[in-house]
Amino acid sequence: MDFKDYIRVIPDFPHEGISFKDITTLLKHGGVYKQAIDELKKMVEHLHIDVIAGPEARGFVVGAPLAYALGVGFAPIRKSGKLPYETIEVGYDLEYGKDQLAMHIDAVEKGQNVLIADDLLATGGTISTSVNLVRQLGGNVVGAAFMIELSDLNGRDKLPDIDVYTLMNY
Ligand code: PRP
Repeated sequence: MDFKDYIRVIPDFPHEGISFKDITTLLKHGGVYKQAIDELKKMVEHLHIDVIAGPEARGFVVGAPLAYALGVGFAPIRKSGKLPYETIEVGYDLEYGKDQLAMHIDAVEKGQNVLIADDLLATGGTISTSVNLVRQLGGNVVGAAFMIELSDLNGRDKLPDIDVYTLMNY
């Protein structure tokens, strides 16, 4: 299975010079979506994960089914102002723009093994912020899993001490 066959590449979206990797064309094929999640599961199931943390919105599409497949919990990482209970927040730069990410203070318990999951690793800003949040809560980040890595953007350099698992590289 070449998962790339199911990714739609859109030039100059949302800004000129950005080559957008659209996963909706993969998600709509149920069997391919399932295989992608199953493949990620195989890559990470040795990590003794307690909780998967995924940043909205596309991190939910990868993280939640992976958590279900592994039978572990899911902790949403959301943009500022969305979570109803007490939060911790960290600001970050995106591939295109700036934002702030938040987690509930009780989303992860101290000492739990946490895998971060998202659709895409680009500059690494989102994931390093997610790692920062989880660590502030006392979680032990055991890895980061993505469908897609944009290798030229060197996102891994922001995660020197974290094992990164990906299905596709561009
Ligand atoms: C996209 C993508 C990753 C992030 C990757 O999310 O889903 O979370 O950017 O970029 P980075 O490695 O440079 O941080 P986006 O912030 O566009 O949010 P969305 O999933 O809600 O569309």
